[in-house]
Amino acid sequence: EQDVYILAVETSCDETSASVVKNGTEVLSNLIASQIETHRAFGGVVPEVASRKHVESITRMLEEAVQEAGIPPQSLSAIAVTEGPGLVGALLVGIMAAKSLAFALDKPLIGVHHIAGHIYANRLEAEMLYPSMALVVSGGHTELVLMEREGSFRLLGRTRDDAVGEAYDKVARALGFPYPGGPFVDKLAAEAEEVEELPRAWLEPDSYDFSLSGLKSAVLNAVNQHKMRGEDGYQPAIARGFQESVIEVLVEKAIRAVRATGARQLLLCGGVAANRGLRAALEERCEREGIALLIPSLKYCTDNAAMIGAAAYLKWKNGEFSSLELKAEPSLSL
Ligand code: KG4
Ligand code: ZN
Repeated sequence: EQDVYILAVETSCDETSASVVKNGTEVLSNLIASQIETHRAFGGVVPEVASRKHVESITRMLEEAVQEAGIPPQSLSAIAVTEGPGLVGALLVGIMAAKSLAFALDKPLIGVHHIAGHIYANRLEAEMLYPSMALVVSGGHTELVLMEREGSFRLLGRTRDDAVGEAYDKVARALGFPYPGGPFVDKLAAEAEEVEELPRAWLEPDSYDFSLSGLKSAVLNAVNQHKMRGEDGYQPAIARGFQESVIEVLVEKAIRAVRATGARQLLLCGGVAANRGLRAALEERCEREGIALLIPSLKYCTDNAAMIGAAAYLKWKNGEFSSLELKAEPSLSL
């Protein structure tokens, strides 16, 4: 059989990324230009700025990804691109670039759902077993997704307000950390000697949905009270309390979803999969309950094009191509 080389593009948020993936699992190149430094000055991602930055780097990223892969452009099998969800202007830059290339090289185009990418990042390093349960946690997503078989997705639950990473970033800001603050809160929580008790949002007993805005407000209130009382050094206890609340609910619901569906595997993915507290809690709980847990390496957890290439390969196998009419879908559902 002939080898399949997919050139993948990801520009849904603030990372410009291009990658060549061979046969769905072998990453020949995976270049990522992060815009974090640019957005930090604004305390978060500014959509207009993100689009402009993508435009500045996309062509060079594509060229370098193919060059580093060491294959002539003509031997590419397809061009894949994130079609949504994400920032519409940011998505458009990747889509236009992918379309132009597909047209110029006369190669098929494959539109990929960003969350399918996060989930299939797991295929780059390990075997996925079905049915499989994915807990997707990132700056824009908090979802429990059941895959009964390869390529099928059933959304069991999602956040009703803030995404986990978004809540981390807001809490971090209230505690005085720069954007993106998730890693700072994680670190502070690990060092804390005390815990500030904060509420848990369980929602309805059988719900797999999440809610983080109440917890976030509770954190902001606690911070204000400490400040009003002129207290100092309260930050670690709050970080710890926040992290414990988030992790307890995520872990409970994920485990319950695995049990209820008979999933053979739990996958953790998205940028917040970098959280040490969450990883440790899931590892411990899965070990105790005999559940197989998969977590991709950090470089495949945060936004990257290799994961889009991995997901695109499955579509390629099934002949699921997109037309050159492919549109950016800012709120595309799975
Ligand atoms: O997947 P990602 O790179 O981009 C999105 O698709 O959103 O995720 C970025 C998010 C940010 O909100 C960041 O603060 C969070 O992941 N994050 C963390 C940690 N590392 C990154 N949150 C908590 N603990 C961490 N260690
Ligand atoms: Zn993402």
